[in-house]
Amino acid sequence: MTLTRSVVLGSGSYLPSRVLSNADLAKRVDTSDEWIFQRTGIRERRIAAEGEMTSHLALMAARAALANAGVDTADIQLILLATSTPDYTFPATAVAVQAGLGITHGAAFDVQAVCSGFVFAIATADALLKAGGGKRALVIGAETFSRILDWDDRSTCVLFGDGAGAVVLEAQDLGAADTERGVLATRLRSDGRYQHKLYVDGGPSSTGTVGHLRMEGREVFRHAVGMITDVIEDVFRMTGYSAQDIQWFVPHQANKRIIDASAVKLGIAPDKVVITVDRHGNTSAASIPLALDAAVADGRIKRGDLILLEAMGGGFTWGATLLRW
Ligand code: UT7
Repeated sequence: MTLTRSVVLGSGSYLPSRVLSNADLAKRVDTSDEWIFQRTGIRERRIAAEGEMTSHLALMAARAALANAGVDTADIQLILLATSTPDYTFPATAVAVQAGLGITHGAAFDVQAVCSGFVFAIATADALLKAGGGKRALVIGAETFSRILDWDDRSTCVLFGDGAGAVVLEAQDLGAADTERGVLATRLRSDGRYQHKLYVDGGPSSTGTVGHLRMEGREVFRHAVGMITDVIEDVFRMTGYSAQDIQWFVPHQANKRIIDASAVKLGIAPDKVVITVDRHGNTSAASIPLALDAAVADGRIKRGDLILLEAMGGGFTWGATLLRW
């Protein structure tokens, strides 16, 4: 008997070249490196250049992932792009990436679940691949949050950054002795009662403007650890694995204190946690694939490693994925 699973073939990422440090921000708003680092773990973030759009970052990450996977563009049937900062209201930014790669077959669309977008996109790609919707998928998280920040609001402008990451997934029919590879389980959640705790105060159907990010940070923080650990315990229950079994915990990079508290609650050792929030800030849907690719590039993540992904953000949305690399 065989089982179809979505197996990761490779990863890639891209960061804009401009670095914005905490000290740079302190020249603009009433803040300090000490406050930002102590409260969030962030030291610096990247900012997209003028004219550099989400699709440009996504395309660079997609090309890097395809090269790392050794897959030709002709062999990709699905492109899922997780973003809340699309180039345009429509069409989906994913089709700009599709055109940039020179692909005219298959399908490309965006997934919008804010900071949880990459986990939602992995789950969607996994379901489509298993249903026969293609053999290989590019799953990308890409954001230019610098474009929706209120640069006079010190409580939010210090938290976010720009970037993109991507993975290539392939549907593989695994034999009975070899089913523990690829995406093993995903748990997705949302609760719209919290939609105004973290939102953008503009949009095509409300104000006709793009708007700026608004957040009740303390409220988001208060819910984060419980929501994250709940879905992680769900994926452990679904698979029979536990915190002791995983090699790498690759969480959404919003705040080091949230990551640390989640790891402690789950009993995950600090040396198994991949941290990039110090260098990237919160890049929303891009943060997990950026962190994944950083740990692949420096040799920490190896074939066969059991990897736990989680995210929580606007909506609220939250989710976790357990996969074997
Ligand atoms: O990715 C989506 C999910 N998002 C998140 O996970 C973010 C969740 N929230 C957080 O990470 C934290 O709540 C923050 C980092 C946003 C804030 O940390 P906090 O420990 O919750 O601080 P706070 O909001 O309670 O603010 C404490 C103080 C306030 O002053 P008062 O009222 O105590 O006098 C703020 O005005 O810090 C002040 N403050 C700042 N001071 C210096 C707020 N922002 C800044 C700043 N620099 N940038």
